[in-house]
Amino acid sequence: PLPPAFEVPLPLPSVLKPVTTSGGVDRYEISQREVSLEILPGVRTPMWTYHGTFPGPTIEARRGRPITVTHRNELPVPTVVHLHGGRNTPDSDGYPTDLVLPDGWPAPAHPMHGMAGMTDPRAVVTRLTRDYTFPMDQRPALLWYHDHRMDFTAPAIWRGLAGLQIVRDDAEDSLGLPAGPRELPLAITDRAFDADGGLRYPALDPTLREQPGVHEAYLAGVLGDVILVNGAPWPVHEVDAVRHRLRVLNASNARHYELEAVTDDGRRLDLVQVGADQGLLEAPVTHQFLPIAPAERYDVVIDFAGVPVGSLVRIVNRLGSGRTRDVMAFRVARKAADDSRVPRTLSTDLPTWRRSDAVRVRDFSFRAGRVHGGHGWLIGGLPFDPARPDVTVRLGDVEVWRLVADVHHPVHLHLAGFRVLSRGGKQPLPHDAGLKDTVSLRPGESAEIITRFDGYRGRYLFHCHNAEHEDMGMMANLEIV
Ligand code: C2O
Ligand code: CU
Repeated sequence: PLPPAFEVPLPLPSVLKPVTTSGGVDRYEISQREVSLEILPGVRTPMWTYHGTFPGPTIEARRGRPITVTHRNELPVPTVVHLHGGRNTPDSDGYPTDLVLPDGWPAPAHPMHGMAGMTDPRAVVTRLTRDYTFPMDQRPALLWYHDHRMDFTAPAIWRGLAGLQIVRDDAEDSLGLPAGPRELPLAITDRAFDADGGLRYPALDPTLREQPGVHEAYLAGVLGDVILVNGAPWPVHEVDAVRHRLRVLNASNARHYELEAVTDDGRRLDLVQVGADQGLLEAPVTHQFLPIAPAERYDVVIDFAGVPVGSLVRIVNRLGSGRTRDVMAFRVARKAADDSRVPRTLSTDLPTWRRSDAVRVRDFSFRAGRVHGGHGWLIGGLPFDPARPDVTVRLGDVEVWRLVADVHHPVHLHLAGFRVLSRGGKQPLPHDAGLKDTVSLRPGESAEIITRFDGYRGRYLFHCHNAEHEDMGMMANLEIV
């Protein structure tokens, strides 16, 4: 039985405490384990979790202060952790074949994967634990960590392997944006449930041990009919009638949302965007609604000042129907003083690459196609193969990439934040502002992005972040030399 909307309180993921902070490094430990959680009231749902919760615990990081996370894999399958949006060395970037094997899992000489039994001689496989080191030498932003195992990312995230990581710095802290209990992380996901409370996922191999992929009817991606925010169905959160800062992440496998905030009397509240995937904008941008594709983040300030005390502000998904139209609600509980502000200038360090800075223009198509004799998804006509170099770029080079899609594809680049130069041959849309790491290509659309490949040399990835598309071939290697 599904709960009525706006009754379950909004959970806030707990903030993980470091086990040590000595030597200028914060060290964390996370165990990946199977637990049963009460997602729907009165029912237990077996899940795969980071440290026993869904979403996993939030890691709070400071810019320039490195952190190490020791992950311990107590799940029945191999796992890989990727910090989405992190500027990380390749050995800590969660390449899909850098498996952490559970105890007792046979050690492959060269890990074998997926539909074609591909091998990857460059994979670095560990058993039971792995230390991931994140320099955190990057703009403050909402990042998220999630599983990235070859061929099985989508079902692993679906079962619960996702958590938040927030980077902050003094400059951002001093802006005066709403903070403390008035800053809320909102990880939005959709899920489907069986009658007994188990998560429903159309995997070809429900053990997720051997055969990857989903039943053909789900090629476009797996959708759920229950909307969860921070792991709770259609939750409600009590707020003061003041400005709040919402750190919104679409952690869904395949569902797109167009979010708007609607009062009981049908008024739409402004969504004042202050940040994108990779941190603060130059200046705020006001939206009536915000489209958000899988893996995208928006940093948004919303002002509840004019809303009558006792009434609701519903967050609605304009793309949903029936119960998937509702996302969550805020109940405005009381008047209160507001000392927050939204400065006219938010940041001055955004890269301003120009087309003329680019040493190269590359073209990539994102389309359906044949993968190892079955249906799947291709980049530039090819399905992912860890052993094939797809793109080699020089460290420090600025490049323009032209991306074109058949259906909706949110395209994500590891390591490098980028800016959207154009969309459909025209100006970018208002929500393309700022520094991005995921750009949502709409059906039939093309977009140009520009970036400098800064940071580290090594093997990275770019891929579609519709998690089912990603598992079914839509990923490519990015080698930085
Ligand atoms: Cu959020 Cu390569 O992924
Ligand atoms: Cu896609």
